[in-house]
Parts: sequence; C-alpha cells; structure tokens
Amino acid sequence: MPNHAEVYKNQAISYDDMINRQPNLAEHIKEIRSYQGLHVLDLGAGSGRLSSFIAPEASSLVCTDISESMLKRLDEKLMHNSSNHNWSTVVADHRKLPINDSSIDLAVSGWSISYLTNTDNLDWENNLEFIMSELKRVLKSSGTIIILETLGTGTETPDPPEFLKPYFSLLENKYGFSHRSIRADYQFASTAEAKKNMEFFFGSDISKKIEEHQWSTVPECAGIWWKHLGG
Ligand SMILES: C[S@@+](CC[C@H](N)C(=O)[O-])C[C@H]1O[C@@H](n2cnc3c(N)ncnc32)[C@H](O)[C@@H]1O
Repeated sequence: MPNHAEVYKNQAISYDDMINRQPNLAEHIKEIRSYQGLHVLDLGAGSGRLSSFIAPEASSLVCTDISESMLKRLDEKLMHNSSNHNWSTVVADHRKLPINDSSIDLAVSGWSISYLTNTDNLDWENNLEFIMSELKRVLKSSGTIIILETLGTGTETPDPPEFLKPYFSLLENKYGFSHRSIRADYQFASTAEAKKNMEFFFGSDISKKIEEHQWSTVPECAGIWWKHLGG
C-alpha cells in the first residue's frame, strides 16, 4: 500500500481528482443535520470534499488537517467557488484542536480519524478517546458529530477492513453513534482511466481487481456514523 502521508504531501491534486469521481455527499449529511447557518468543523478536511458543499451554506467553517498541502488545495478550491470567505484552514492533529470550547454546532470528518484509530496503531484506543474528548470540548451541548469511513473499496457490499472493525464497534457500542452504510462508487470513462487514477492511492491490488472485472465504475462502500450530543 502506498504511503498516504507522502500522497497527501506531494499528490494532493491527484487525490482530489480521484475523489471528485465519487458522488456528492451533501444530501447524506443534510439528512442527519442541516448545516445552514451553523458553525461547522471539518476534521481532517483534506482537499475539501465535505467543506466544498458546506462552506456556501454554513455561517462559519474551520477546516483542520495535519497536511498543509491538502489544506492548500482546499483553499484554492473554495476560493474559486465561493464568494463569501467564511472558512479558515488550520494545520492541526485531531488530538489537539486549536479551537475554543463550546464553539461548534456540527463536526464532520471524512475518511480521516481512522489513521489514528486503526488497530495497526498501538495507541488506537487512546487516540479515539482523545479525539472524542476534543470533539466534545469544542462542540456546543446541542452539537452533532458525523463521521464517514470506508467499508471497502472494490466491493459492492460492506466489507470493512479487519483493522477498522474494533474502531467501528467502539463508535457504536461505547460512544453511542448511530450507523448506516452507503455506496460511494468512483466513475471513470474507462478501465484504463480507473486504474491510472486509483493505483497511486490504493496500490496494485485495486488495479488487478479493476482489470479482472473490467470496471470503469469502481464500487466503494462507506459508513456514516452520527451522534447528537443533546440526545
Ligand atoms: C483520506 S483523506 C480525507 C480527506 C477529506 N476529509 C475527504 O473526505 O476527502 C485523510 C486526511 O486526513 C488527514 N490526517 C491524517 N491523519 C491526521 C491527523 N492525525 N490529524 C489531522 N489530520 C490527519 C490527512 O492529512 C488527509 O488529508
């Protein structure tokens, strides 16, 4: 598997091009909580997949990420698309957020917390505890947390990686999150384009699978977990 920290540092545009082949997720977020007029945090915002549709409607948006290059890409995109500069970007680790207590209505996080909470990381359980307590600190008592993570790339039914299952289980059973799954397939013009655009991130296994199935649409399952702090 490629080194993702390197990808985020050196290939932010390629990452952004790849995820732009997935469906817009705005309706899935709105169904759980409308962000119209809210103060929103996008945790691990990356190149702005979620921030791009949240910024135009939110009152304010803070985008945190450990990668400066990814946030640079986010800034370029939002600058291009938005007339109202209501967002800020901050390089920060999920476990220590430079954000005031009780200042956020809605925290969203896409495909990011898992870098600290997969079981290959010896500290995964403590990391999850730190992240949950940071989110609780920055959120208002009426706040909401929405987390998206992978349930498998190249699979038509949810098939989460083993190293993420304990994290998902704690979200549901310890931290009280509700959960459902969605499809977030990648759509390319051809099998060759799918391979070219996905291998740098997912490695040679995905290329072999794409070739074997002659996919131009690569299936992807994602999970959404959410919790309203106010009950
Ligand atoms: C798969 S990308 C997801 C980006 C964006 N949320 C999206 O949905 O496309 C993961 C992001 O998490 C960031 N990240 C990884 N570990 C992090 C950490 N400990 N603290 C903050 N951000 C982190 C990476 O830099 C990267 O931008």
